[in-house]
Amino acid sequence: MSRRPIIAGNWKMHKTIAEAVDFARNLKPALAGVRGRVEVAVCPAFTALAGVAEVLQDTEIAVGAQDVHWEESGAFTGEVSPAMLKDAGCRYVIAGHSERRQLFGETSGNVNRKVKAVLSHGLIPVMCVGETLAEREAGITEEVVRTQTGAGLDGLAPEQVAAMVIAYEPVWAIGTGRNASEEDAQQVTGYIRGLVREWYGNTAAERLRIQYGGSVKPENAAGLMAMPDIDGALVGGASLKVASFVEIIKASVLS
Ligand code: PGA
Repeated sequence: MSRRPIIAGNWKMHKTIAEAVDFARNLKPALAGVRGRVEVAVCPAFTALAGVAEVLQDTEIAVGAQDVHWEESGAFTGEVSPAMLKDAGCRYVIAGHSERRQLFGETSGNVNRKVKAVLSHGLIPVMCVGETLAEREAGITEEVVRTQTGAGLDGLAPEQVAAMVIAYEPVWAIGTGRNASEEDAQQVTGYIRGLVREWYGNTAAERLRIQYGGSVKPENAAGLMAMPDIDGALVGGASLKVASFVEIIKASVLS
């Protein structure tokens, strides 16, 4: 079964509304030739979501949020609900990014609540999993990824898992310039697909898209994207400039 790769830019806490909208305006013509073969998404900060979505509404370029709260509404100061993200024009929502887990106390239980809430609003979760350097060095990468994946997907129906995106992002590779090798990234993404096959069946495993993330750059994108179980990338630093983001997208189409 062929899966359409998805390249998503995670802008983290960067770009004003004007900068984000400007990026979106410049991205449109830059992607004229590659549309259709690869899905493209940008994930601005909450403040810029609606502005970017408006610029991109007549294109196939999707908009994603970087986080969400699982409740519908209520007294949750500082939080944003799935319905609000949908209203702002989002199609994707990142859940469980390692920066949320490490810096803001995100637990796998909460990631699971977020994934369920996102799916129930017809949005697509991009659920992040990945080991730290200490965990890799201790030889427990598979165990960590198994625990995070199992907890994050707990209670979902196979069709829901099939529609999702999982991003395998080794923490030691994020923002460090040191990407996982093609072989290591394939080994873990293949392992994740195997887990999904074991837990949710073959169809879910074959349809689920698994991205690699962590220092993806124009120079390493083609090799990583050519791996059989890697269906795209979650790109941080290199997604902040139109030129490098587009180079990554083009490299993934050619791979
Ligand atoms: P990076 O970030 O590409 O800057 O390593 C990836 C991510 O955190 O999603």
